[in-house]
Order: sequence, then structure tokens, then C-alpha cells
Amino acid sequence: MRTSAVIVAAGRGERFGGPKQAQPLLGVPLMEHSLMAFQHHPGVDEVILVLAEDLQALAEDLQQRYPKLQAVVPGGATRGASVFQGLQQVQGEWVLVHDAARPMVRAALIDRVLKGLERYPVVVPVVPVPDTVKYRRGDHLEGQVDRSEIALVQTPQGVWTRILRRAYERAGDQAIYFSDESNLVEHALGIHAVPVPGDPENLKVTFPEDLQRVEALMTRRMCVGFGYDRHQLGPGRPLMLGGVEVPSDLGALGHSDADVVIHALVDALLGAAAIGDIGALFPDHDPQWKDAPSRIFLEHACNLLRQKGFRVLHVDITVLLERPRIRPHALEIRQNLARMLGISVDRVSVKGKSGEGKGPVGRREVVEAYAVATLVGPMP
Ligand code: CTP
Ligand code: MG
Repeated sequence: MRTSAVIVAAGRGERFGGPKQAQPLLGVPLMEHSLMAFQHHPGVDEVILVLAEDLQALAEDLQQRYPKLQAVVPGGATRGASVFQGLQQVQGEWVLVHDAARPMVRAALIDRVLKGLERYPVVVPVVPVPDTVKYRRGDHLEGQVDRSEIALVQTPQGVWTRILRRAYERAGDQAIYFSDESNLVEHALGIHAVPVPGDPENLKVTFPEDLQRVEALMTRRMCVGFGYDRHQLGPGRPLMLGGVEVPSDLGALGHSDADVVIHALVDALLGAAAIGDIGALFPDHDPQWKDAPSRIFLEHACNLLRQKGFRVLHVDITVLLERPRIRPHALEIRQNLARMLGISVDRVSVKGKSGEGKGPVGRREVVEAYAVATLVGPMP
């Protein structure tokens, strides 16, 4: 079944103390963690982002980096109104409505909701309540809730699109005041949601301290990779660094375009995910890779990482080259790498070092690059 995800990120974050959707979480805006999760889930065909009016300027860049993102639309005054705006764009028969405030959504949870939709029109992930729950009566507590009868509701909530549309129609003006999709459908159409196991780590960022809690959980999944490369220098060859041709009397010798920056970077990326190295993945005796421009290796490595659920957070590269100086070219190289990695340029660092006239670098015999990549691995 064709499936659309509607991610709502148009709230005002009053309890957070301001809009939270663009708050950095491990250097990535909060809402982008959800975009990544749905972009990379094979069961999701398109994504619609409902985004606060003052963040609409981000739409173009987001659509470039998340190809499934079909539309970015402004939200409404309530969550229900925002979902309704997103629903207008939905093409799928099934819709997953997800709060951008839940950046920890796992593929396995999305799987469970999708599986449920094969049989039921409204499917909601829930987690049990571990604590004792009591009623507040003025200044004292009274009675106790039977925990076995209650559950905490999460997103994504899955609904057959025609059912959700009908519920909005039926509920009329009141529709936008329902707290979530299951509540709306239950009241408007009398259809009850079916629970599937939620995920205790699929936390919602509501208060500022929630962001730290989520960040601490995510940090467990951080991994770092290191890469190195070196090529000889010689006349009559272009000097390619990070996919940019840097004007130089000496160029790098070797297979393909001998781009040490990309080669070191690819090794760092593959190393962080512990999935081999550039030589093993792209053997130069394989005609497919022979003389391929290095950017192809980087694109392939990025695809591989994405498929395995890794996200690149940051890369740092040092180029050892006697002449020319790297600094005048650093921004162009950073921009080029950022585009290929699908991250913003402020997450890509490129620095140059000379050999101070000493050693193979100083004698202009070689160019070298060291790279460190920081990634977030898939949810265990
Ligand atoms: N949301 C929305 N449009 C609204 C209200 C909420 O798109 N008018 C979205 C939020 O951006 C969030 C999700 O719905 O991703 C869940 O809402 P909540 O956590 O309550 O976020 P806020 O409404 O922004 O926060 P608050 O209630 O504290 O103001
Ligand atoms: Mg709210």
C-alpha cells in the first residue's frame, strides 16, 4: 500500500520555552531526525512536513536533502489543524502522522504500525505506565488508577487515509481540537484504535530537559571513524581535493582522480560503520570502479551508510600539502563535500598544513589527508 508520512513541526513549544523543532540535537535540527527516519524507511513512499510559518525558508534545502519530502506546508493553530494541512497533500492510502518532537523513532516501530494497518484502520503505538498512578483531589491524593487499563500513546499513529479524511469531515469545526488522530477518529466515526507495542525510547521532547535526555540516549549510538590517504605528486595531472580542482603546477598521481581528501573521508565513513575500506569496496581491478571519479565512491559510501541506518554528523579533514595553500579553497571544498554528504557546511571542516619544507610533504613529493567522521549509528 502506498504510504505517506505527515510530520508535524508547526507547534510553538510553549512548554519548551520557544520553538523546539529547529533546536540542535547532536548538531542536527530536532525535526530532521524524524525526516531521516521516514526518508530511510523502505515502507514510506512520501513525506509531508508541516512546518511553522517562520521556518518555511528552510523548505527548499530540506527538499533537496530528503528526496521523499514531497511538500512542506505551513501549520495551523492546533496540532489537529496542522495535521489537517498536511493531510491535504497526502497521496498514499495509508498515512503515518508523526510528531517532529519525537526524534528517536525507530524503523522497527514504523514497521509495527505498518503491519497493524494491514488489518486495522487506526493503529497506535503505546507503552505501559511503569509508575503507580493516582488521582489528585485538591491538596491530597485519592484512589489509584488500574495500570493494566491504561497506556501512554506515542506517534507515529497510522490511519487509513480515507478514514482520517472522513473523520475530519464528520467532526467539522471541532476536528482541530482533538489531541491526536486516534481520538478524532474514535469520536467522529466510533472507530477504536488498535495498539501495537511502542518504544520506551521514543521519547517526546516537551520540556528543555527532555532534549538533554534524548541527546544522552543518542550519544550511546555515536561512532567515530578515521581515514588516511596519500598520493604522489607529479606534473601534468590535476590536483583534485574534495572534488574541487585546486590550481597547482603539480597534481596527484594514481588511480581515478587521486583525490586524497575524498579517499581519506570515505575510509573514515566506512571505518565508523566498520564496513570495510575503500580498497575492499571499490577494487581498482573492477572495471566498474576503474578511473571512476572519487565522488562516485563517496556517493556509494553514503548510500551504503544510509541503508544501514547511519547518519553523518560531522567530518573533519586535514590536508598535508606544501603548496598551494589550502585555506583559500577550503570553503569551496567544504561546500562540495557538505552537498555530497547531505549535511550542512558548518558540519564539515577542512584544514591545511604544510610540511614546513621537511619530509615527503615538504619536498612536494606527496599530498596526504587525514579524516575523522562522527556518525550516529542505527537504533540498536
Ligand atoms: N504541532 C503542530 N502544530 C501545532 C501544535 C503542535 O504541528 N499547532 C506539532 C509540534 O510541532 C510537535 C507535535 O505537534 O511536533 C506535538 O506537539 P507538542 O509537543 O505539544 O509541541 P508544541 O505544541 O510545539 O509544544 P507546546 O504544547 O508546549 O506549545
Ligand atoms: Mg502542543
